[in-house]
Amino acid sequence: MKINPIGVIDSGVGGLTIAKEIMKKLPQETIYYFGDTLRCPYGPRRMQEIQSFTLELVSYLSQFPLKALVIACNTATVAALEAVQKAISIPVIGVIHPGSRAAAKVTQSRRVAVIGTKTTIDSQAYVRAIAKVDPKIHVLGSATPNLIPLVESGQWDGPMAKRVIEDELQELQEQEFDTLVLGCTHFPLIENLIRAVLDPAVQIISPAEETAIDLEMVLEKLDLVEKGVGKVEHQFFTTGSPASFQTIIRKWLLLDDPSVQHVDLRDYQTSFKK
Ligand code: DGL
Repeated sequence: MKINPIGVIDSGVGGLTIAKEIMKKLPQETIYYFGDTLRCPYGPRRMQEIQSFTLELVSYLSQFPLKALVIACNTATVAALEAVQKAISIPVIGVIHPGSRAAAKVTQSRRVAVIGTKTTIDSQAYVRAIAKVDPKIHVLGSATPNLIPLVESGQWDGPMAKRVIEDELQELQEQEFDTLVLGCTHFPLIENLIRAVLDPAVQIISPAEETAIDLEMVLEKLDLVEKGVGKVEHQFFTTGSPASFQTIIRKWLLLDDPSVQHVDLRDYQTSFKK
C-alpha cells in the first residue's frame, strides 16, 4: 500500500531537526524532504526572494501526492507561510507558533530570548506569537546569522565552532532570561555547543517537538494518520551536493542508506504563480 507523504522543506539541513521529531512521533509516516542547500542561507535575503524560493520548493514537492506540508524553517515561515497556504490545498504548518507556545509554557521569569536569522528576528514574528500566548512575557531577540553556515558545513566539532557560538551569543548573554528559543531549525544540530556557553539554568526550546505535535493534531483531525500498513520510504531532495547532505542525514537521523536526489530547480517549471 502506498503512503501519501508529508512534505518538509527548509533552506538546507536545518529542517532535518523537525523531520527527526516527526519520525519519532509519527513513525508510520513517510517524509519527502527538500533542502535548498545551493541557495542557503535564506536569512540575509529579501522577503520577496525568500517567498519566491519557498514557493519553488513547494511547487517541486507538489508533484507528489502530499497530504500535508511542514515549512521546517523559521525564515521561510515568516516570509511565505500565508502565500504557501494560499497556493496549495493541503494543510500547511509553520514553526513559529509551535516554538512560541513551548517557550511560554516553560518560562518562569517571563523573559524569553530568541535566536534566529536576521529576517526572523527583525520580523518580530516571535514577539507577536509569544504575546498571543502570554502578553506579559518579554521577548529578547538576537540575530545569530553566523551559526547557519557553521551548521551547513557539518564542521561543528572543533574549537572554531565554540568561538563562533560565543561571539554570536555575547550580546544576548549580557541580558537576563530563563528560556532560549532556537528560532532557526539549524540550531538544534549544535544545541550541545550552545548549551555549553549558557547559564545552566536556562531552558532551551526547540520548536521541533511542538511542531510534530501540531502535525499529529492536524492529521488526526482530518483522519489522515497512516494506519501503519504501508512501507515507509523517506525521500530526500537537495539543490546542493547529495553526498554532504547524506552525511548529515546519516549522522542526525541515523538512517543507513538514505535516498538523496539532486534537484536543479532551473530545469523545473514552477506550477503556480509567485
Ligand atoms: N533553517 C532556517 C530557519 O529556521 C534558515 C537558515 C537560513 O537559511 O538562513 O530560519
